[in-house]
Amino acid sequence: MLDLGAAPGSWTQFSASRVGPRGLVVAVDLTPMSAHAENVVAYTGDFYDGEVLRSIASHGPYNVLLSDAAPATTGNRSLDTTRSAAIAEHALYLCGELLHEGGHLVVKIFQGGEEQALVKEFRRLFQTGRLFKPKACRAESFETYLIGLGYRRPESQTPESVD
Ligand SMILES: C[S@@+](CC[C@H](N)C(=O)[O-])C[C@H]1O[C@@H](n2cnc3c(N)ncnc32)[C@H](O)[C@@H]1O
Repeated sequence: MLDLGAAPGSWTQFSASRVGPRGLVVAVDLTPMSAHAENVVAYTGDFYDGEVLRSIASHGPYNVLLSDAAPATTGNRSLDTTRSAAIAEHALYLCGELLHEGGHLVVKIFQGGEEQALVKEFRRLFQTGRLFKPKACRAESFETYLIGLGYRRPESQTPESVD
């Protein structure tokens, strides 16, 4: 499992308990992780950086890709949603490089921007794609999640070709 934007590490910790001792969670964040476990490999760095991508690709391809990553918010809603959508698009792009055929993707996105266009893209690339707002999200929060189940790799893409 790959966890993008993973610090301080609640999702990683939960995922590590779910994949068990024979599974692996690879976590990456700009800031160091506070969650540690034997089945967790954590990288501190930017998931747009080629070196970081090569490191995480060395453990792939993955069955599940999670991204709870969020841009540093500016208070400018339009700018913040655009940056959040860019992260979601990057996670979607990384599926072509890092996700197994049939794998799953969960990505946080700020509402009010490109989420409907991204739902369409999820539906093209996954057997099912939808938006999901967990009950734990505060009603006034503009965070929601895109979920894609059953990745269908476009024919032109092969995994692990990050450069
Ligand atoms: C809401 S927090 C994630 C919380 C985490 N899921 C947890 O359970 O503890 C969002 C994280 O995304 C990270 N992030 C944002 N852009 C990033 C990037 N380009 N590369 C790596 N991490 C990034 C931030 O540093 C921040 O720690």
